[in-house]
Amino acid sequence: MQLVKISAKRIKQLGMFPLAEQAMAIRSTDPFYQDGRMRTFFQALVYDGVILGVLGWEYNSEKLFVGPLEVNPKYRGMGVGSIMLYQSILASLSNGTKGVFLYCTNEFVEYYRRFGFKRILLDWEGEECNEMILPFYWIKSCERSQFIGEIYRGYRTSLMGFYKGVRNAHQTA
Ligand SMILES: CC(C)(COP(=O)(O)OP(=O)(O)OC[C@H]1O[C@@H](n2cnc3c(N)ncnc32)[C@H](O)[C@@H]1OP(=O)(O)O)[C@@H](O)C(=O)NCCC(=O)NCCS
Repeated sequence: MQLVKISAKRIKQLGMFPLAEQAMAIRSTDPFYQDGRMRTFFQALVYDGVILGVLGWEYNSEKLFVGPLEVNPKYRGMGVGSIMLYQSILASLSNGTKGVFLYCTNEFVEYYRRFGFKRILLDWEGEECNEMILPFYWIKSCERSQFIGEIYRGYRTSLMGFYKGVRNAHQTA
């Protein structure tokens, strides 16, 4: 299993990640990404030559915003989304940023709460939107190693679930 950068062209060719396709099209023209305030790229999780899921990164030296997170429909519910999120949290921790943040609709709030994200409800030009925040500076220094341990445990559990799911899928194929 490996994480690689994936281009807009490749995502378009695959045709199974419409949210990522749309986000990449917006980011390629939005001045916010052109003047260097935020950098952006998309990451793909690849296993046995198959692209299992994609995750957008937007970052500067302080913050990492992730999203959209989109899993290959054939591989949903196997831990792929969790693996990608845990990896981004671990990368953000080791890069010394202030935390990981994302935006989502109401239907995904509970999904992100599983990873420790807290919800801030926003009114975005009359529409409800959730900012999910995982700020590392909220974690007391005496609780930091416990937090990191929990992230690693969650990551390990997702990896184990994934390999079991893939084995079952291969056995029933
Ligand atoms: C949401 C999504 C990324 C989850 O990825 P995934 O790889 O299928 O999820 P995981 O395998 O990591 O996690 C599965 C668990 O999350 C739960 N889950 C999935 N979607 C959920 C949701 N909307 N709310 C709460 N829990 C959810 C599952 O019930 C499962 O629970 P279990 O471990 O107790 O059985 C994936 O379903 C997807 O790509 N959806 C379409 C794209 C999309 O709308 N993305 C927007 C996200 S902002």
